[in-house]
Amino acid sequence: METRTFIAFGLLLASLCLCGVSGTTDFPKAQDVTWSSNNFKTLLTWGPEPTNYAYTVEFYAVGKDRDRNPHCIRTKNTECDLTSRLTDLKATYYADVLSEPERGVTSDLVEFPHTRSKRFCPYKDTLIGRPDFKIEVDKVRNKITLDIEDPLSAIYQDNRLLNISEIFKDDLKYKVTYRKAGSTGKKVLTTDTSRAVLDADEGESYCFSVQALIPSRSVGMQLGDMSRLQCSPRENKSIFEEYGLGVIAGAILAIMVVVIVVIALIAVCCRRRRREAASPGKDGAPLTQV
Ligand SMILES: *[C@@H]1O[C@H](CO)[C@@H](O)[C@H](O)[C@H]1NC(C)=O
Repeated sequence: METRTFIAFGLLLASLCLCGVSGTTDFPKAQDVTWSSNNFKTLLTWGPEPTNYAYTVEFYAVGKDRDRNPHCIRTKNTECDLTSRLTDLKATYYADVLSEPERGVTSDLVEFPHTRSKRFCPYKDTLIGRPDFKIEVDKVRNKITLDIEDPLSAIYQDNRLLNISEIFKDDLKYKVTYRKAGSTGKKVLTTDTSRAVLDADEGESYCFSVQALIPSRSVGMQLGDMSRLQCSPRENKSIFEEYGLGVIAGAILAIMVVVIVVIALIAVCCRRRRREAASPGKDGAPLTQV
């Protein structure tokens, strides 16, 4: 009896030592497991760089089966692109990063050290990039129209990339911030479509910036990146409109007067100099008379 427990204890010790030698028990856990997502392109990143082990990413929508991306199984990378794998954009996902033996190395362990990500929902959490837009000025009706280009997402469907308007549909608005050039007062306009029309003062230049707005999201996630600032051209009035005919006639008259005065002065000067040249100096004058 005693010898049998002794042998059993010895075997246990030996197996523990073997595990220790092969090193499978002490793979470090992944750290800083982080989602980063822009326009629905979604990466999971973590650390540290693996040494004698590898990482496997598992992810699942709440209430659904676990899944893996074939590119992120026993990988030496510290990043996994899950863009095309999170197919239900409105679902809430979690990911586990497992520290496993390198490819080709077997292990008896049933469960590997793993670290769970925070929750991530593409529809609620992806950051929306800055839109581009064009300005059109209607001089007759004094209206300015902004045509906003919906940013493209990274979601592939029917052999093309969907734009964010096709994903968010009616949830997508645009926030337009604008001011009259040279003024500091900012105004804000929200539009349901990718077109915004506003009344403008005649001939004035306005400066605009545009960002996506998704009011259905939580407060901190509603606004997308701000576009670059663009200004409508200041209308170039013709010189007659700007000053009126009378002022221009007056200006031309003034210029002519100045020119005439200058010519007259030059003429007087020249005549005086010529007269001085024709008659000799004071010293010479008496001599001729003698
Ligand atoms: C986005 O997709 C919708 C629907 O197909 C389309 O009407 C709109 O013009 C697209 N926007 C851009 C900028 O291509």
